[in-house]
Amino acid sequence: MNPVSERDALLVGLDPAWSAGDPARLVPDDTARAAELNAREPALGEAYRRWAGALAGAPDVKSLHERQVAVLGRERGVLKLALGELGKLPAEERRARGAGLNAMRLGLEAVVEARRAELERETEAKAAAGLDVTLPGRRPWIGKAHVLAQVQADLLDLFHGLGYSVYTSPEVEWDEYNFTKLNFAQDHPARDAHDTYWIREGSTLLRTHTSPGWVRAMEERKPPLRLVFPGRVYRAEQVDASHMDQFHQIDGLFVDQDVSMADLKGTLATFARAIYGPKVRTRLVPVYFPFVEPGCQLDIACAICDGQGKIANGSRCPVCKGSGWSELLGAGMVHPNVFRAVGYDPEVVTGFAFGMGLERIAMARYGVPEIRLFLENDIRFLHQF
Ligand code: DAH
Repeated sequence: MNPVSERDALLVGLDPAWSAGDPARLVPDDTARAAELNAREPALGEAYRRWAGALAGAPDVKSLHERQVAVLGRERGVLKLALGELGKLPAEERRARGAGLNAMRLGLEAVVEARRAELERETEAKAAAGLDVTLPGRRPWIGKAHVLAQVQADLLDLFHGLGYSVYTSPEVEWDEYNFTKLNFAQDHPARDAHDTYWIREGSTLLRTHTSPGWVRAMEERKPPLRLVFPGRVYRAEQVDASHMDQFHQIDGLFVDQDVSMADLKGTLATFARAIYGPKVRTRLVPVYFPFVEPGCQLDIACAICDGQGKIANGSRCPVCKGSGWSELLGAGMVHPNVFRAVGYDPEVVTGFAFGMGLERIAMARYGVPEIRLFLENDIRFLHQF
């Protein structure tokens, strides 16, 4: 009998897309069985190799089932058809072929079961991949106070310790309170320097500083007063790395009898040491503000160049621009005109005031180079504090 036509007969009904089998899938048992069948009859060995490879290479349960039916199906499986052909053979060949086909069937059934078990394991492994109990748990997001809120809370805490309480006042303010009662003359250039956002030109505005809070507090209360005024302020500034058109300030106001510049100095020194450490060097420099007289600014030795004005390589310090000092806040003795404006008698009452920018303090404290970062709300930035 011609082996090629026999082999063709055995392959009847197999889908050509997979009937070539997948030899890589054959395990040693299959190879041994194929060799044994080959010894009986080359066509049997070849068919076994193909079918076992096709079954072992089924990519999923559904195609495994289809291939199983095509190969081992009781009605139309190729093996069944090959058995049907047996009758055409002479008696002794028939027995040998029959035994060979039977051995094939047993082997192929084992391949089907092995592949089925393997596919089930893969499915389980895939399902479990979404549920890896060895992975670290997901942390829930935990919110925290904004860095400026933290700095503000620290400062308020400090002033609380010095006997100050908090007074809040509106962000939309009268010109009266923002300027006039704070002794800004009607045509004084200091008004222009505040680059005001007007709500109604000449009467209502977004407050340009937190100092109007003092006027409100003094109109409302009698001395002695010890108050801090935290809040957001607005200026129509050109925005850049160190200027925003909205930022935060805290003003402080101390009003009593016989308050002197020495009290102011002591308070500011205490404040500077509390936030920058006990060794910090400070100086008071005379500066003009309409609502204080004398007015001054508190400088601290530049934290970057340690007051030297030069950095390690000898070049000019970029932060203090070579001066060795950086401005921390404005301050002064409350101007008599301000006391008059709120109905206090400047012959009896004295006081000092100071005002600082929170962004500037936070930038110096944490080395933040860019003021815009505070308002961008980028979690990667905010989460660091
Ligand atoms: N209000 C001033 C500003 O925003 C800062 C300031 C200066 C506040 C002197 C004060 C002070 O209380 O005494 O420019």
